[in-house]
Amino acid sequence: MKGIILAGGLGTRLRPLTKVTNKHLLPVYDRPMIYYPLATLCRAGFEKIMLVTGGNSAGDFLRLLGNGKEFGLKDLNYTYQDGEGGIADALRLCENFADGERICVVLGDNILEDDIGPYKRAFAEQSTGARILLKKVPDPERFGVPVFDGTRIIRIDEKPVVPLSNYAVSGVYFYDQRVFDYIRNLRPSQRGELEISDVNNAYIEAGDLEYDVLTGWWTDAGQFESLHHAAHLVGLKRGFREPLTCE
Ligand code: DAU
Repeated sequence: MKGIILAGGLGTRLRPLTKVTNKHLLPVYDRPMIYYPLATLCRAGFEKIMLVTGGNSAGDFLRLLGNGKEFGLKDLNYTYQDGEGGIADALRLCENFADGERICVVLGDNILEDDIGPYKRAFAEQSTGARILLKKVPDPERFGVPVFDGTRIIRIDEKPVVPLSNYAVSGVYFYDQRVFDYIRNLRPSQRGELEISDVNNAYIEAGDLEYDVLTGWWTDAGQFESLHHAAHLVGLKRGFREPLTCE
């Protein structure tokens, strides 16, 4: 299974912080935001990773992360997303990298306490499909929100005005190779983006989406409040200070 980090987009919700740099290079407590999704993947044993970036400061990722050796990676690949076409638009660029293998996608502004290794193993046991990770949150309207029939997810609503559950779909997704076919069939949403929730809804329609609920804390860091909250959570969990690498 290969790992993908999506760090494109223009980070407009964090302006002026993102006027001259990429959101994922901003500090979260004692290190750049991008270190956290990278650590999430390499802690779970991913050795081949693709980083999708965009905007004006793409070259800075190379200066910061180089060939990934510092993180114990065998292979760190980079690609570039023009504009802000959405999460699924960024993922689309990774089809050649995936090369028919299964993938784990982590959004570049998602920071989580859990080791995703057990979820990766659960996905490896699925014969096909997708697997997403949920978290109970006080403000589901900011996220993709699963709608349940009993314990089964029947739909995901992207940023609903009236959320039908208290869960958010976190930015960690496991997909089989069909994901790129589903992306090819997407239409831009009202905000002009190819939405990852539409990809997940395609898997739901095919009856092939499983989920787990995260046990540790999880946050995005894409708005001022959540960026501040993320730094607070990381600061409390001093363990994050230790491993720069994936051991
Ligand atoms: O954080 C989890 C949430 O992330 C999910 O619950 C939502 O379903 C999902 O749509 C997403 O919502 P956001 O509106 O918070 O996503 P945002 O536009 O902030 O993008 C999140 C990351 O995805 C961003 O840090 C980099 C990457 N991205 C985003 C866009 C729009 C790209 O690589 N390219 C893009 O064009």
